[in-house]
Amino acid sequence: MKIAVFHGSPRKGNTYKATKIFLDELTKYRDVQYTEFFLPEAMPEFCTGCQLCLGNPYEKCPHSKYVTPILNTIINSDALIFTTPHFGACSMTSCMKNLLDHLDFLTMNVAPRAELFKMKAFIITTGAGSVAAIKPIKKYLKNWGINRVYSLGFRMFTDRWNKMSQPKQMKFEKKLRRAANRYYNAPQKYPYISTIFMYYISKFILRKYVGIGKYPYEYWKEKGFLIRSHFNKYDVFNKHNLH
Ligand SMILES: Cc1cc2nc3c(=O)[nH]c(=O)nc-3n(C[C@H](O)[C@H](O)[C@H](O)COP(=O)(O)O)c2cc1C
Repeated sequence: MKIAVFHGSPRKGNTYKATKIFLDELTKYRDVQYTEFFLPEAMPEFCTGCQLCLGNPYEKCPHSKYVTPILNTIINSDALIFTTPHFGACSMTSCMKNLLDHLDFLTMNVAPRAELFKMKAFIITTGAGSVAAIKPIKKYLKNWGINRVYSLGFRMFTDRWNKMSQPKQMKFEKKLRRAANRYYNAPQKYPYISTIFMYYISKFILRKYVGIGKYPYEYWKEKGFLIRSHFNKYDVFNKHNLH
C-alpha cells in the first residue's frame, strides 16, 4: 500500500509524534511504503487566487512546479494522510490550507481524478479543538471524491507530548495503533451519498450551463464522465479508465 503523508506544520511536535506512531504501526505491514511531504517546504508559495487552475489544466498554476510532484504522488498512492495541529477557531494550519487551496482544482465540478474515487484518507489532528480542525479538511477531501475519510483528533491541552501523564500517552498511542490497523484493513466502500450527489449535480451543471469550449466541460468530456448515464459502484467510480 502506497501512502502519501502531508505534515501540516513545520514544528515536529505533538502532531508529528502522533503521526510517527501511526506510521510506525502501519509499516508493520510489509507492503506499506510512504512518501512524506513537509509543509510549508513542499508548497512554499501562497495561492494567489488567480483561478487559472479552475479554468485551465492545473499546469497553468504559477506554482505548478510544486503542485506537479504532489499531484503525481497523490495519484499514484492508495491512501493519503493529512496532519495538522489545531490553530485558532476550528482551524487547520495556514500551510495545510495553502496546500488544499493549491489542489482545489480536484474538486468534483472542476477536474476530479478518477484515481481518488477509490482512495482512502486519514486525518490526524492535535490540540484541544482538534476535532473541529478535522471538519474542513474532510470537506475538501470529500469534494475530491475520496472514497472514505477517517480521522483521529487528540485533545491534549499541552504543547508537548512528553508533558502528558504516562497513562495518557499510552492511551493515545494505543488509539493511534488501533486506528492504523483499522485504516490499513479498511476496504473500499460504496461512495458517500454526498459524492454521488456532487457527481450528478456537476454533470448536470457542466452540460447545461457551460457547454463546449470551457475547461471543466472539456475535461469531463475527455475523461468520459459526461457519458455515464447511470451510477453504480462498478461504473463511474471504480471501473473507469484511469489513464
Ligand atoms: C498559533 C496557534 C494557535 C493555536 N490555537 C489553538 C486553539 O485555538 N485551540 C487549541 O486547542 N490549541 C491551539 N493551539 C495549540 C496547539 O493546537 C496544540 O498545542 C497542538 O498540539 C500543537 O501541535 P504541534 O506540537 O504539532 O505543533 C494553538 C497553537 C498555535 C501555535
